[in-house]
Amino acid sequence: MPNPDRAALIDRLPKAELHLHIEGSLEPELLFALAARNAVAIPFASVEEVRAAYDFSNLQDFLDIYYQGMAVLQTEQDFFDLTWAYLQRAAADNVRHVEIFFDPQGHTARGVAFETVLDGIERGLIAGQRELGITFRLIMCFLRHLSEEDAFSALEQAMPHLDRIHGVGLDSSELGHPPAKFARVFAKARALGLHVTAHAGEEGPPEYVREALDLLKVERIDHGNRALEDPALVRRIAAEGMTLTVCPLSNLKLCVIDEIAQSPVRQMLDLGLMVTINSDDPAYFGGYVGANYHAVADALDLSADQIVRLAQNSFTGSFLSAAEKALHLERIVDAVNG
Ligand code: ADE
Ligand code: ZN
Repeated sequence: MPNPDRAALIDRLPKAELHLHIEGSLEPELLFALAARNAVAIPFASVEEVRAAYDFSNLQDFLDIYYQGMAVLQTEQDFFDLTWAYLQRAAADNVRHVEIFFDPQGHTARGVAFETVLDGIERGLIAGQRELGITFRLIMCFLRHLSEEDAFSALEQAMPHLDRIHGVGLDSSELGHPPAKFARVFAKARALGLHVTAHAGEEGPPEYVREALDLLKVERIDHGNRALEDPALVRRIAAEGMTLTVCPLSNLKLCVIDEIAQSPVRQMLDLGLMVTINSDDPAYFGGYVGANYHAVADALDLSADQIVRLAQNSFTGSFLSAAEKALHLERIVDAVNG
């Protein structure tokens, strides 16, 4: 049930977003504008037709449309416009820090240079920091439906830019592509000093979460829903203080859950897990981070303490320094009191 005090608390709390695919923030309006600007044909006649196509029954259904949508992103300016549009939405939700994913292989395979992608996204992030006060980290993801060799090649292309890329992640089609497939490329990324995270347990079994921890040595688990099926794994995630980046509206749209009341957020809080709330691909799933907080808070009747905990977790689980985390946590206290 909506509750005005709870809604106001959500809106004024400073938040970090730790699970956001920048290509998944491509709104239909921008998709159309970029298609026209770059003379790229898209199989839709109107924005309404695009939105109607966003009806998915699983992750792969969504990914097919998501990769199609990326085709309109061609120039450095396109990647800037995409990033800037996302950051304005994030600012409206009082997001103060973002750790965003991008999928370089989704662009280089189409002939767009790695540098074009990186330069545009980074320029957007720097503008966001300067004009909106939102700090950032940038995480490149390996597409897990592609080969290990392809992932090594993406990492190779990142090598001249390691001062601008903070971490690596693992995304795309989970089932049939276990973390083990990328153990060696993650070992190399770690040796280069990059942070590491991976999607696991979104559709894949608890074993994939275990592999992400043991073989990839991740610092966060993206999603992690299906870890709850394995009590020993839950105890381990709790004991290690491992952050889970849960995405409630994504889970609903991709049929990981049938209704938002089935979101695992409350159960994870009750189990003492470091759960966070994120939007994943907001242009496709119907809401940015604020909408995700509101949806779960209402459906699960979360208390003020639980909502504050979620916001705290978002900073604690970030790749910020301890000093930076402490500053954000102080601002949360101010927001609760004010
Ligand atoms: N790429 C973009 N969004 C994704 C998701 N939710 N899971 C896996 N890969 C993705
Ligand atoms: Zn994701």
